[in-house]
Amino acid sequence: MMNCLQSWPEPVVRVQSLSESGIRAIPDRYIKPPSDRPGFQNQEHVDIPVVDLKNLFSHDHTLHEETLKVISSACKEWGFFQAVNHGISHELMKRTREVWREFFNLPLEVKQEYANAPTTYEGYGSRLGVQKGAILDWSDYFFLHYLPVYLRNPSKWPSLPSSCRDLISEYGAEVVKLCGRLLKAMSISLGLKEDYLQNAFGGEDIGACLRVNFYPKCPQPDLTLGLSSHSDPGGMTLLLPDHDIAGLQVRKNGKWITVKPVPNAFIVNVGDQIQVMSNAIYKSVEHRVIVNSVKDRVSLAFFYNPKSDLLIEPAKELVSEDRPALYSPMTFDEYRLYIRTYGPCGKTQVEFSGSNR
Ligand code: OGA
Ligand code: NI
Repeated sequence: MMNCLQSWPEPVVRVQSLSESGIRAIPDRYIKPPSDRPGFQNQEHVDIPVVDLKNLFSHDHTLHEETLKVISSACKEWGFFQAVNHGISHELMKRTREVWREFFNLPLEVKQEYANAPTTYEGYGSRLGVQKGAILDWSDYFFLHYLPVYLRNPSKWPSLPSSCRDLISEYGAEVVKLCGRLLKAMSISLGLKEDYLQNAFGGEDIGACLRVNFYPKCPQPDLTLGLSSHSDPGGMTLLLPDHDIAGLQVRKNGKWITVKPVPNAFIVNVGDQIQVMSNAIYKSVEHRVIVNSVKDRVSLAFFYNPKSDLLIEPAKELVSEDRPALYSPMTFDEYRLYIRTYGPCGKTQVEFSGSNR
């Protein structure tokens, strides 16, 4: 299996170049089967929960408990919430998003210097998965390692725009801190010690990576997806969405809910590893991205992950005779190979591993 991860099975096509070429019809390899297209299921008009983090670590016990309760029910019922008053500078969020928009607007030759391969995925990419003949998503991306420090290689980060590398460092440091606070809140609200999840992730040795998604305008948005349905394989994701165009959809009771981004919020979601550690009390929920014919969309997904060679398993405290362990131990390295080979495919992996691993 490792062998087929060395290179892409087909010549790489940049979706942005296709979009900018002015084609009126999208190539067949982006056309999804009817059941996967955006219009297939009725859309529900509800919103994912919004959580105000202002009182998360307040000394007022009642306010603190109240916040934990809202987080807990969001992680159980939705696997998703929008976080406001998270403490990260709105200016920093805006500058980081804009610098990445500028990166994608650089000439193709500049971006090609960072072209990635499926061995590490690091760099400028246009597909996830290495199956020959796969139907592709309507997006390009830039993927980089932020932690552990020995995997961090700023020379693989864009040197243009000139502020890009500094912004990645600054933004990463802030987001890592926020993820630590959220992990604490999730631990307590699961009835675990406050540092349980952080320790189970490897303490100081956690992994973190950034994927910046670029969804070009699409002449036939009803036939394709910007990102196919998937659950995030890692621990927890903090998404900074585009400020003025929606695209993310979350699955709820078999229907797709389009998230309306709250200004300056982060969209937080539970990944497969927290689902495993919480013995499925918290849910890693399927989501996807739709595109449109009017505007390009940029989003930054920051993945906060367990150290890659630790065995991840349900917390002993959450396993009982009535609720046996639903998953057997597996490292994140082993787990991640699946999505890196087959691309995004719903929640098949965590469900499959539940009964077979
Ligand atoms: C992801 C993701 C959503 C978005 O990168 O895993 O789900 O809105 N992104 O770009
Ligand atoms: Ni995702």
